[in-house]
Amino acid sequence: MKMPFIGAALRCSAVGALLMTGLGMAQIGDGPIIRQHMEQEKIETGELDFWQVFDHGEKLFSAKFNTYDGQGRPGTTGTGAAREPGSAPAFIRTSAPESNSCAGCHNDPVPGAAGDIVANVFVLAQAADPVQDSVDAQFSNDRNTLGMHGAGLIEMLAREMTVDLHAVRDQALAQAADSGTSVTLSLDTKGVNFGAITAAADGSLDTSQVDGVDADLIIKPFHQKGVVISLREFSNNAMNHHHGMQSTERFGMARTGSKDFDQDGYEDELTVGDITAISVWQAALGTPGQVIPNDPVVARAVIRGERLFADIGCESCHVSSLTLNNPNFSEPNPYNPDGNLTPDETTALFTFDMTTYGQGPRPAKAQDGKIKVRAFTDLKRHNLCDDDYNHFCNEQVVQAGVPTELFLTRKLWDVGSTAPFGHRGDLTTMTEAIHFHGGDARASRDQYFALPQQQQAEIIEFLKSLQILPTDAQSLVVDENGQAKNRTRVVRKNEAVKRSNPE
Ligand code: HEC
Ligand code: HEC
Repeated sequence: MKMPFIGAALRCSAVGALLMTGLGMAQIGDGPIIRQHMEQEKIETGELDFWQVFDHGEKLFSAKFNTYDGQGRPGTTGTGAAREPGSAPAFIRTSAPESNSCAGCHNDPVPGAAGDIVANVFVLAQAADPVQDSVDAQFSNDRNTLGMHGAGLIEMLAREMTVDLHAVRDQALAQAADSGTSVTLSLDTKGVNFGAITAAADGSLDTSQVDGVDADLIIKPFHQKGVVISLREFSNNAMNHHHGMQSTERFGMARTGSKDFDQDGYEDELTVGDITAISVWQAALGTPGQVIPNDPVVARAVIRGERLFADIGCESCHVSSLTLNNPNFSEPNPYNPDGNLTPDETTALFTFDMTTYGQGPRPAKAQDGKIKVRAFTDLKRHNLCDDDYNHFCNEQVVQAGVPTELFLTRKLWDVGSTAPFGHRGDLTTMTEAIHFHGGDARASRDQYFALPQQQQAEIIEFLKSLQILPTDAQSLVVDENGQAKNRTRVVRKNEAVKRSNPE
């Protein structure tokens, strides 16, 4: 049940105090967009229910922050380093702040989703001091906006995978200590292999064979490079980077020794509870699904394309489904790095069952209580470049120590809603994106282009069917009117057509 938001305390600042004379009184003229902030304590004690937290997160994500909210960061770069106040412009497209709202970029087709190429971010230009006003690739990485639908499932998959990989590492260490010799174990989780790790008897580790993940074996599912652990970490980064809205947990007195680290005249711009709310809202966005149109010709193409996609090896990276054992999302993430709330800083985790709470449509729980997450990714980094195809190796600036040619297998579950394509968003069709799959994907790419035109079109039709669904969609597989569609029946019909009409 939705309940009205009974807000947390108003925080006043020099200018804000003049404008906000108190709750209940009419407020006219300029003032902060976010007049009420959320108290983490009330979230932890359960005083605020799921929908109150969710609604506040939505408000924060779509708010167009202004000066009175604390927008802007005269004394801070986009990565949070101190800079000479006034040495950078208030807004700058390259180094940012470059927008007033998360939804300014994440809005296609709905808030929380992806963005057109015009909403690209020049990733790492925000670190430049003095600011960088060139978009030349030698200074920053030009990246297209991703969508967050299904992100709660993705964050939880990554956490479970990290637990598995750490267990393998611990096992290797224990076996090496017991046996007095080096032990090498294969790093496998949920059917995905991340190379191998070797433990020596003296307790040291050799991570040179680890593949597709950092040596710390923490799966980082966010950013196209796979360098951010949680929605919370991303939100803390993005609030400062894009808007100059600084969270207390990252920039507050306790951590920086300053009440107004960015020196814009506003203290505690975003509470710990605000960051919980915006993280929870993203985690609880609807789950992408499949639209199988009622036109039998198109429906058949979708079903056949899906099978071909698997047959030619696309699924070796775009894994059709990963199994999430625990359907609960919990905030905060235990692997959060310094500067982001961690579980030991809370009295209780904020937890919700992703199959019963959140925006629709929600994933279904199987009989064993697990969720099959059909995101079409292995959450692993790959290199798609070779001598013939190197479109995806355009970047020059190393991010978080990850080699420039490596990118996380792109989630495809919303690909029918998120054109343009490629990490830069510079490809107008999916066929172009497939064309540039060299390197680790070369074999499946070549198989794709060796198929007859009709079958290539079927694969594209399948990919087009993977979409962000309307919030009132009845299931994760629907027709073009949002009505539940029985996929098995479509598959059977296709088989019948094949038998009577062999190719
Ligand atoms: C100027 C455009 C822009 C704004 C404003 C913006 N984002 Fe993003 N966002 C992007 C781009 C571009 C990416 C992809 C970055 C990459 O891959 O390096 C992204 C990625 C993300 C991701 C990772 C998604 C994934 O699956 O990897 C999250 C989470 C996110 N943004 C949250 C936010 C939040 C929260 C805000 C507001 C505080 C915000 N963004 C504001 C453009 C923007
Ligand atoms: C070796 C792993 C791998 C294989 C195999 C693979 N892909 Fe990909 N795919 C990726 C990665 C990594 C990206 C992200 C590329 C980028 O933008 O840097 C990607 C991106 C894509 C995109 C672009 C999505 C978007 O929203 O921009 C499409 C479409 C796609 N793959 C389809 C396919 C198809 C079809 C096949 C089989 C012919 C395939 N892929 C095989 C790893 C793989």
